[in-house]
Amino acid sequence: MNYHGKTALITGASSGIGLEYARAFAAKGSNLILVARRADALSALAAELKKTYGVTVTTIALDLSKSDSGQKLVAKVGTTPVDILVNNAGFGTNVRFENENRDTVRDEITLNIATLTDLTAAYLPAMLGRNSGVIINVASTAAFQPVPGMAVYAATKSYVLSFTRALWAEVQGTGVRILAVCPGATDTEFFRIAGASPSTSLAPVSDVIDHTFAALSKNLPSVVVGGRNRAMAFGSRLVPVTAVMKVAASMFLPPKR
Ligand SMILES: NC(=O)c1ccc[n+]([C@@H]2O[C@H](COP(=O)([O-])OP(=O)(O)OC[C@H]3O[C@@H](n4cnc5c(N)ncnc54)[C@H](OP(=O)(O)O)[C@@H]3O)[C@@H](O)[C@H]2O)c1
Repeated sequence: MNYHGKTALITGASSGIGLEYARAFAAKGSNLILVARRADALSALAAELKKTYGVTVTTIALDLSKSDSGQKLVAKVGTTPVDILVNNAGFGTNVRFENENRDTVRDEITLNIATLTDLTAAYLPAMLGRNSGVIINVASTAAFQPVPGMAVYAATKSYVLSFTRALWAEVQGTGVRILAVCPGATDTEFFRIAGASPSTSLAPVSDVIDHTFAALSKNLPSVVVGGRNRAMAFGSRLVPVTAVMKVAASMFLPPKR
């Protein structure tokens, strides 16, 4: 796809992976609609990208973790055709489920699953009508197995991976590309917000961006970022789930209070 002059709607663009997707699409000449809660961070990024790449950037400060968030965002975007949708906003919590805050759990499921699904539903039909478009849904290596200590997060990312792969199959034969991106531990604000300390080294965000564009050019349904993560995702299907969960628990399950 030629991204020049296309409009990319990117959620979670105020930091981390979403911010680098914004830079990458701007560098390819795409105009941007950037969404997150932190208006100041979005404005600073918009100013940088307008100046550096001469693209148009609109910012929308919105909480995407409420049941009507998708609808609200679509209304704010209005009639601008969205050629590229990057469903990136998401968060996790590293807590035993018995200690999870119920409101946080609801927000996590709504943001990671419901808003992503609502936005896909809102923009896919018009993409199919134009026979052109790209949807990138950010899943995780957590999608490949249950993760004790991050039970809700891993389950939401399993949904994202399964949903996106199924849609990929539905759109074959059209000009629309749909891709689930599964990063492993990556150097962003994610682990601080989750309250987790990663036991592995953190990959640079640029790895996620590079794997995304390589996978899009091959029309893959999903991509795992990094050779070691790919081996682990594949390996998790070959051993009993109890053994896989033991390893995941050793990395993420907090001690009982
Ligand atoms: N970093 C990793 O190791 C890793 C690994 C696998 C998958 N992922 C996934 O990658 C995606 C991006 O995360 P990241 O690593 O870049 O973490 P991050 O630096 O914490 O970025 C998360 C982004 O999502 C936005 N966001 C969070 N809650 C939101 C809400 N309620 N409404 C609107 N926007 C919200 C944040 O913006 P505001 O705070 O301004 O709202 C921020 O822009 C997530 O889906 C995450 O699950 C990350």
